[in-house]
Amino acid sequence: MDRQALNAALEQCRTLPPEFYSDPHRHRRELDQIFRQEWQYAGPLDRVREAGSYMTTVVAEVPIVVTRALDGGLRGFVNVCRHRSAVVASGCGRSRSLVCPYHAWTYSLDGSLIAAPRSEREASFDPTDFPLRPVRIDVWGPLVFVNLDQEAPALADWLGDIPDMYAETGLRIDDLAYRDRREYTLDINWKTYAENIVECYHCPSVHPAFAGVFDLDDYELEARARSSIQRTRPRERPRTAAADAYDFTGGVEDGLYVFVWPNFMANVSPGIGHFHTNSIQPLGPDRMVIMNDFFFVPEVSTADADSYIGFQHQVSLEDIAPLEAVARGLGSRAGLPGRLMQASEPLTQHFMQTYVAVMES
Ligand code: FES
Ligand SMILES: [Fe+2]
Repeated sequence: MDRQALNAALEQCRTLPPEFYSDPHRHRRELDQIFRQEWQYAGPLDRVREAGSYMTTVVAEVPIVVTRALDGGLRGFVNVCRHRSAVVASGCGRSRSLVCPYHAWTYSLDGSLIAAPRSEREASFDPTDFPLRPVRIDVWGPLVFVNLDQEAPALADWLGDIPDMYAETGLRIDDLAYRDRREYTLDINWKTYAENIVECYHCPSVHPAFAGVFDLDDYELEARARSSIQRTRPRERPRTAAADAYDFTGGVEDGLYVFVWPNFMANVSPGIGHFHTNSIQPLGPDRMVIMNDFFFVPEVSTADADSYIGFQHQVSLEDIAPLEAVARGLGSRAGLPGRLMQASEPLTQHFMQTYVAVMES
């Protein structure tokens, strides 16, 4: 199917061809044409706020380390040793230097190579020839992003007016503190997850507690060039028992969930200041991990923060079985083309159209 035929099918509310969700060659192209060119969430700024701290992540199979060097500078590097390519740092923490676990080449947090055992025995060896390879990083509020493409537009351009939208909700984004992370690994293609988090058509059948709190008849969907916006508000009379939800009164009144192409979502929920991110990371053509980071303003109590994380954890767990069922159906290659519900799934259609525009040009 060429681009024109795909666009015509999408226009008719048809879904993407099933083979788009399992082809290993397509997966490699996606890594190169999408994930290595777009801004990717790297982790919470709180993990690298102090001089001498670092955190690691992986973007499109590339190990990344973000550091706060002793000079106070925030930097990002390809986390691969310049000796024989071992991954250098793991996890996150504090350290004056990063030591490769293989032959102990040692890097300063500014990326420079400061020690290589027995290098004095080499006829010519200049450590300044072998710094860690830098990558672009930037920050929005409590979030650090990385981009493997030196030519990509700035993070501020990628985000557009999204920071203003969050400010308008009343969320004090600069007061948010990182609290915790939840990760889920699913045997599905990453696109299946993205197509799911931009629609709430499945919410009544899959997320009863969520549907009991939020008024799904008053749920707004808006497609922008590179983002998809969902807005919701709590029911006047929630059907979900308070014990199964969290305290969504005070401060921010409406939920705002913005998905930014290709794999990131920022969510502010009603309440004093409850914010979390979703970052979808492909692990292969039919495997992915969703990483959810939770942030709260200081007035949110520990118990309420835990309730919110538990509430969202339940939502994440509820998505797994239906999405893995989709993956099995797509993988059977025996299904007929799907039919999107235009009024309820316009953002899923928009995601598919963006995908075709990027990948099939
Ligand atoms: S691969 Fe890193 S020190 Fe040898
Ligand atoms: Fe869901």
